[in-house]
Amino acid sequence: MREIGCGPHGCLELLSKRVGPSGSVVGVERSQDAVDLARKMIVERGLNNVEVLCGDARSTELPPASFDLATARLVLVNVPEPEQIVAEAVALAKPGGYVAFHEADWVAHICDPPSDAWSALVELFVRYSEQNGIDPFVGRKLPRLLRDGGLEDVRVNPLIHVYPPGNPRRSILLDFAENLTERMLAQNLIGEAELAELKTTLRRHVEDPGTLVVSHLWIQAWGRQPV
Ligand SMILES: C[S@@+](CC[C@H](N)C(=O)[O-])C[C@H]1O[C@@H](n2cnc3c(N)ncnc32)[C@H](O)[C@@H]1O
Repeated sequence: MREIGCGPHGCLELLSKRVGPSGSVVGVERSQDAVDLARKMIVERGLNNVEVLCGDARSTELPPASFDLATARLVLVNVPEPEQIVAEAVALAKPGGYVAFHEADWVAHICDPPSDAWSALVELFVRYSEQNGIDPFVGRKLPRLLRDGGLEDVRVNPLIHVYPPGNPRRSILLDFAENLTERMLAQNLIGEAELAELKTTLRRHVEDPGTLVVSHLWIQAWGRQPV
């Protein structure tokens, strides 16, 4: 099995358990820092059937048609031209093998009571994504990307969660805003003082236990490589 854009942990441990001692898992990740962390995790957890390679998911240089499963989680929502990664995943799956993705779609990420700061930060994130060729609504397109990539029997499983008080994902919009602050300021998408005020207001809102926070829409889709 192969995980694309596995990051420092991803699904490597799950896949390792799934294939068992006689199987093997290959992670491919472009960030050398994430590769180093993933390799450390593999050693610490004794995942002897897993290896992680530093490489580009669009062109892995792994042997084509050689994996029972090629999979990725939350990678397409971060890259321009996601069809390139889908094409490589399809090429790596054996005839009759599977390709499976888990992706985000920002359509469902809402809160209640409504918050102007929440709406402004979502709108800012969407503008940042558009300006950088990234599609925050790629989740809904996933089944089509898999069919267009040549897979058969494409299935879809949508998921949505509520993040209750204490759940770290409650502040995910703020985490995005923090991570992207320098890039959004450099691209003149917003002024520093305005962004700081939005983040302070939103932090108060999500820390209020009475605020409902709904996750992104997660779309899981998978299909089979024709025999
Ligand atoms: C949001 S993280 C998800 C990590 C992991 N899949 C998980 O679910 O925990 C996206 C990861 O994809 C990696 N990535 C993005 N584009 C890539 C590419 N072209 N080739 C390899 N890795 C890539 C990033 O470096 C990052 O580690």
